[in-house]
Amino acid sequence: MSPAEIRAREAIADAGRMLADRGLAHGTAGNISIRLDDGLLVTPTNSALGSLDPSRIAKIDFEGVHLGGDPPSKEGFMHIASYARRVQDAAVVHLHCAHSVAVSCLDGLDPQAPIPPITAYYAMKVGGLTLLPYFRPGDPALADAVAAVDPARHAILLANHGPIVSGKSLDAAVGAIEELEETARIFLLLGGRAVRALTPDQLADLAAAFPS
Ligand code: 13P
Repeated sequence: MSPAEIRAREAIADAGRMLADRGLAHGTAGNISIRLDDGLLVTPTNSALGSLDPSRIAKIDFEGVHLGGDPPSKEGFMHIASYARRVQDAAVVHLHCAHSVAVSCLDGLDPQAPIPPITAYYAMKVGGLTLLPYFRPGDPALADAVAAVDPARHAILLANHGPIVSGKSLDAAVGAIEELEETARIFLLLGGRAVRALTPDQLADLAAAFPS
Protein backbone atom coordinates (compact mmCIF):
# COMPACT_ATOMS: atom_id res chain seq x y z
CA MET A 1 0.00 0.00 0.00
CA SER A 2 1.44 3.40 -0.98
CA PRO A 3 2.28 6.03 1.65
CA ALA A 4 -0.38 8.28 0.01
CA GLU A 5 -3.05 5.60 0.50
CA ILE A 6 -2.03 5.06 4.13
CA ARG A 7 -2.26 8.82 4.75
CA ALA A 8 -5.64 9.01 2.98
CA ARG A 9 -7.05 6.17 5.11
CA GLU A 10 -5.93 7.95 8.28
CA ALA A 11 -7.33 11.27 7.05
CA ILE A 12 -10.78 9.71 6.44
CA ALA A 13 -10.80 8.17 9.94
CA ASP A 14 -9.68 11.49 11.51
CA ALA A 15 -12.36 13.44 9.62
CA GLY A 16 -15.05 10.93 10.60
CA ARG A 17 -14.08 11.17 14.27
CA MET A 18 -14.08 14.98 14.16
CA LEU A 19 -17.49 15.10 12.43
CA ALA A 20 -18.96 12.67 14.97
CA ASP A 21 -17.42 14.62 17.88
CA ARG A 22 -19.08 17.77 16.56
CA GLY A 23 -22.47 16.06 16.41
CA LEU A 24 -22.61 15.98 12.61
CA ALA A 25 -22.52 12.19 12.15
CA HIS A 26 -24.77 9.96 14.26
CA GLY A 27 -25.31 6.20 14.14
CA THR A 28 -24.07 4.84 10.83
CA ALA A 29 -25.27 7.82 8.76
CA GLY A 30 -22.98 9.46 6.22
CA ASN A 31 -20.04 8.40 4.10
CA ILE A 32 -16.66 9.87 3.12
CA SER A 33 -14.34 9.18 0.18
CA ILE A 34 -10.97 10.23 -1.18
CA ARG A 35 -9.93 9.79 -4.80
CA LEU A 36 -6.62 8.03 -5.45
CA ASP A 37 -4.91 7.41 -8.80
CA ASP A 38 -6.20 3.82 -8.95
CA GLY A 39 -9.66 4.15 -7.40
CA LEU A 40 -11.49 5.52 -4.38
CA LEU A 41 -11.22 4.93 -0.68
CA VAL A 42 -14.77 5.01 0.71
CA THR A 43 -16.15 4.34 4.16
CA PRO A 44 -17.66 0.86 4.61
CA THR A 45 -21.44 0.49 4.53
CA ASN A 46 -23.09 0.66 7.96
CA SER A 47 -19.96 2.00 9.62
CA ALA A 48 -19.97 4.68 12.34
CA LEU A 49 -17.94 7.61 11.01
CA GLY A 50 -16.67 8.33 14.53
CA SER A 51 -14.89 4.98 14.97
CA LEU A 52 -13.46 3.96 11.60
CA ASP A 53 -10.54 1.54 11.40
CA PRO A 54 -8.29 2.97 8.64
CA SER A 55 -7.21 -0.50 7.50
CA ARG A 56 -10.84 -1.60 6.93
CA ILE A 57 -11.90 1.39 4.80
CA ALA A 58 -13.12 0.06 1.44
CA LYS A 59 -11.35 0.54 -1.86
CA ILE A 60 -13.34 0.52 -5.11
CA ASP A 61 -12.39 1.22 -8.71
CA PHE A 62 -14.00 3.95 -10.81
CA GLU A 63 -16.73 1.50 -11.91
CA GLY A 64 -17.58 0.63 -8.31
CA VAL A 65 -15.90 -2.78 -8.25
CA HIS A 66 -14.86 -3.67 -4.69
CA LEU A 67 -11.07 -4.02 -4.54
CA GLY A 68 -10.42 -4.35 -0.81
CA GLY A 69 -11.39 -3.55 2.76
CA ASP A 70 -14.91 -3.97 4.16
CA PRO A 71 -17.95 -3.82 1.81
CA PRO A 72 -18.21 -0.22 0.55
CA SER A 73 -20.92 2.34 1.21
CA LYS A 74 -24.10 1.66 -0.75
CA GLU A 75 -23.64 5.24 -2.00
CA GLY A 76 -20.20 4.62 -3.46
CA PHE A 77 -21.71 5.18 -6.92
CA MET A 78 -22.80 8.66 -5.80
CA HIS A 79 -19.18 9.43 -4.91
CA ILE A 80 -17.99 8.09 -8.28
CA ALA A 81 -20.53 10.34 -10.04
CA SER A 82 -19.28 13.31 -8.00
CA TYR A 83 -15.67 12.79 -9.12
CA ALA A 84 -16.71 12.30 -12.76
CA ARG A 85 -18.57 15.63 -12.56
CA ARG A 86 -15.81 17.55 -10.75
CA VAL A 87 -12.44 16.32 -11.98
CA GLN A 88 -10.67 18.96 -9.87
CA ASP A 89 -12.01 17.49 -6.62
CA ALA A 90 -10.30 14.81 -4.54
CA ALA A 91 -12.72 14.20 -1.65
CA VAL A 92 -16.47 13.83 -1.07
CA VAL A 93 -18.41 14.00 2.20
CA HIS A 94 -22.07 13.03 2.64
CA LEU A 95 -23.78 13.58 6.01
CA HIS A 96 -27.22 13.41 7.60
CA CYS A 97 -26.46 16.50 9.74
CA ALA A 98 -29.67 17.72 11.36
CA HIS A 99 -30.10 21.31 10.15
CA SER A 100 -29.28 20.55 6.52
CA VAL A 101 -31.62 17.56 6.63
CA ALA A 102 -34.34 19.75 8.16
CA VAL A 103 -34.02 22.24 5.29
CA SER A 104 -34.04 19.34 2.80
CA CYS A 105 -37.49 18.37 4.15
CA LEU A 106 -39.07 21.81 3.57
CA ASP A 107 -41.65 22.08 0.82
CA GLY A 108 -41.53 24.71 -1.91
CA LEU A 109 -37.76 25.35 -1.96
CA ASP A 110 -36.06 26.78 -5.05
CA PRO A 111 -34.10 23.78 -6.47
CA GLN A 112 -31.34 26.15 -7.64
CA ALA A 113 -31.09 28.05 -4.33
CA PRO A 114 -32.74 26.11 -1.49
CA ILE A 115 -30.78 28.32 0.94
CA PRO A 116 -30.25 31.89 -0.33
CA PRO A 117 -26.79 33.53 -0.03
CA ILE A 118 -27.38 34.96 3.45
CA THR A 119 -23.76 35.21 4.63
CA ALA A 120 -20.38 35.87 3.06
CA TYR A 121 -18.87 32.59 4.29
CA TYR A 122 -21.76 30.57 2.87
CA ALA A 123 -21.19 32.25 -0.51
CA MET A 124 -17.42 31.71 -0.29
CA LYS A 125 -17.23 28.15 1.03
CA VAL A 126 -20.40 26.59 -0.37
CA GLY A 127 -21.45 28.86 -3.24
CA GLY A 128 -24.34 27.62 -5.35
CA LEU A 129 -26.35 24.80 -3.78
CA THR A 130 -28.51 22.48 -5.89
CA LEU A 131 -31.50 20.63 -4.40
CA LEU A 132 -32.16 17.20 -5.94
CA PRO A 133 -35.49 15.38 -5.55
CA TYR A 134 -35.94 12.51 -3.11
CA PHE A 135 -34.31 9.17 -3.91
CA ARG A 136 -34.11 6.13 -1.65
CA PRO A 137 -30.63 5.98 -0.01
CA GLY A 138 -28.48 3.81 -2.22
CA ASP A 139 -30.79 4.16 -5.26
CA PRO A 140 -28.53 3.91 -8.36
CA ALA A 141 -30.69 6.63 -9.98
CA LEU A 142 -29.09 9.04 -7.52
CA ALA A 143 -25.80 8.72 -9.44
CA ASP A 144 -27.45 9.96 -12.64
CA ALA A 145 -29.09 12.86 -10.79
CA VAL A 146 -25.78 13.84 -9.16
CA ALA A 147 -23.94 13.50 -12.49
CA ALA A 148 -26.37 15.97 -14.11
CA VAL A 149 -25.75 18.80 -11.60
CA ASP A 150 -23.92 21.89 -12.91
CA PRO A 151 -20.20 21.02 -12.56
CA ALA A 152 -19.51 24.57 -11.34
CA ARG A 153 -21.28 23.57 -8.11
CA HIS A 154 -19.69 21.37 -5.48
CA ALA A 155 -22.56 21.28 -2.97
CA ILE A 156 -25.78 19.31 -3.40
CA LEU A 157 -28.71 18.84 -1.04
CA LEU A 158 -30.65 15.58 -1.40
CA ALA A 159 -34.32 16.10 -0.52
CA ASN A 160 -35.44 14.42 2.73
CA HIS A 161 -31.93 13.02 3.09
CA GLY A 162 -28.91 15.35 3.46
CA PRO A 163 -25.99 17.15 1.83
CA ILE A 164 -23.17 15.82 -0.36
CA VAL A 165 -20.20 18.14 -0.87
CA SER A 166 -16.91 17.66 -2.73
CA GLY A 167 -13.64 19.55 -2.39
CA LYS A 168 -10.10 19.76 -3.73
CA SER A 169 -9.01 18.13 -0.47
CA LEU A 170 -10.78 16.33 2.37
CA ASP A 171 -10.23 19.39 4.59
CA ALA A 172 -11.91 21.59 1.97
CA ALA A 173 -14.90 19.25 1.61
CA VAL A 174 -15.29 18.96 5.40
CA GLY A 175 -15.00 22.73 5.84
CA ALA A 176 -17.62 23.35 3.17
CA ILE A 177 -20.13 20.84 4.53
CA GLU A 178 -19.69 22.31 8.03
CA GLU A 179 -20.35 25.78 6.61
CA LEU A 180 -23.46 24.46 4.84
CA GLU A 181 -24.73 22.86 8.06
CA GLU A 182 -24.18 26.07 10.04
CA THR A 183 -25.88 28.14 7.34
CA ALA A 184 -28.84 25.72 7.36
CA ARG A 185 -29.06 26.29 11.12
CA ILE A 186 -29.09 30.07 10.60
CA PHE A 187 -31.67 29.74 7.82
CA LEU A 188 -33.96 27.80 10.17
CA LEU A 189 -33.35 30.35 12.96
CA LEU A 190 -34.62 33.02 10.59
CA GLY A 191 -37.87 31.09 10.58
CA GLY A 192 -39.18 32.17 7.20
CA ARG A 193 -38.96 35.91 8.02
CA ALA A 194 -38.05 38.28 5.21
CA VAL A 195 -34.29 38.00 4.67
CA ARG A 196 -31.89 40.43 3.01
CA ALA A 197 -29.72 38.10 0.92
CA LEU A 198 -26.38 39.31 -0.45
CA THR A 199 -26.80 41.20 -3.71
CA PRO A 200 -25.30 40.04 -7.02
CA ASP A 201 -22.72 42.86 -6.70
CA GLN A 202 -21.75 41.71 -3.20
CA LEU A 203 -21.45 38.09 -4.44
CA ALA A 204 -19.28 39.19 -7.38
CA ASP A 205 -17.07 41.16 -4.99
CA LEU A 206 -16.60 38.05 -2.80
CA ALA A 207 -15.85 35.85 -5.83
CA ALA A 208 -13.20 38.33 -7.00
CA ALA A 209 -11.63 38.69 -3.53
CA PHE A 210 -11.68 34.95 -2.70
CA PRO A 211 -11.52 32.92 -5.94
CA SER A 212 -12.12 29.20 -5.35
P1 13P B 1 -23.78 3.63 4.01
O1 13P B 1 -23.69 3.13 5.45
O2 13P B 1 -24.05 2.53 3.04
O3 13P B 1 -22.57 4.47 3.68
O4 13P B 1 -25.05 4.60 3.95
C1 13P B 1 -25.11 5.63 4.90
C2 13P B 1 -25.89 6.77 4.37
O5 13P B 1 -25.54 7.90 4.69
C3 13P B 1 -27.07 6.55 3.54
O6 13P B 1 -27.56 7.76 3.04
